[in-house]
Amino acid sequence: MYNLDIPGWMPECQLQVIEKLAAKIPPESVMVEVGSYCGRSAYCWAKSVDPSVTVYCIDIWDIHRYKPRPNVTLGDDTPMDRDHGRVSNLEQVHPSLENFKANTRDCHNIVALQGASPHDFRSWPDQSVSLVFLDGLHSNPWYQNDLYFWYSKVVPGGIICGDDYSSGHSDVVWTTQNFASLFGLTVLVHERFWLIHKPPAWDPFDALPNIAESNWFEPVAAGRARPSL
Ligand SMILES: C[S@@+](CC[C@H](N)C(=O)[O-])C[C@H]1O[C@@H](n2cnc3c(N)ncnc32)[C@H](O)[C@@H]1O
Repeated sequence: MYNLDIPGWMPECQLQVIEKLAAKIPPESVMVEVGSYCGRSAYCWAKSVDPSVTVYCIDIWDIHRYKPRPNVTLGDDTPMDRDHGRVSNLEQVHPSLENFKANTRDCHNIVALQGASPHDFRSWPDQSVSLVFLDGLHSNPWYQNDLYFWYSKVVPGGIICGDDYSSGHSDVVWTTQNFASLFGLTVLVHERFWLIHKPPAWDPFDALPNIAESNWFEPVAAGRARPSL
């Protein structure tokens, strides 16, 4: 379920991808969205997951630091831009916590966390989140920091995904591809939406098949002292 009136940068076709992915998140678990803006994608996650899933929504919500504005429709008279939403006045496109809360007021499973990702969330426990959706900053070093940080927070078998896998956001494309090839993972892409499935039992040596298959490493017997290097 989604609300096309909420301003933002999420075309209807991607809201439909969110709906499908949200349905796969196990009941009673947790998901994180980084970059919630006015709540367009957050509303869709929150209304499409099982109601027992907690949706943590992270954003700086700082009108002085985040300047881009979506190309919204103003007022009721003109046909709506279905990719960016509709507002009755331009204050409703300010990236403020107030606007986010107003647009998601009937989403009881959302917890809004104001702060800069990943720095302000560095004590977040590892392997504790079923799905992370990255839609904060799309250029490096910020995007890369988010990708590496939040992947470590995903449970084995969980999903990390994001928006803007497109030529206009080359850092998203190259950083995601490099990350996946480094760790032996596969990037799935649908339109501008990308997704990486974390293997059920993630072992860093799985990512290094050539080394692991050579006899460079031998199992260390339990209790044996680690040789000094
Ligand atoms: C492209 S918009 C998100 C669009 C939103 N998902 C939607 O459905 O419309 C990017 C958002 O990332 C936020 N942002 C920028 N830097 C951030 C950071 N370091 N941590 C968290 N959010 C950040 C901005 O304030 C902005 O609201």
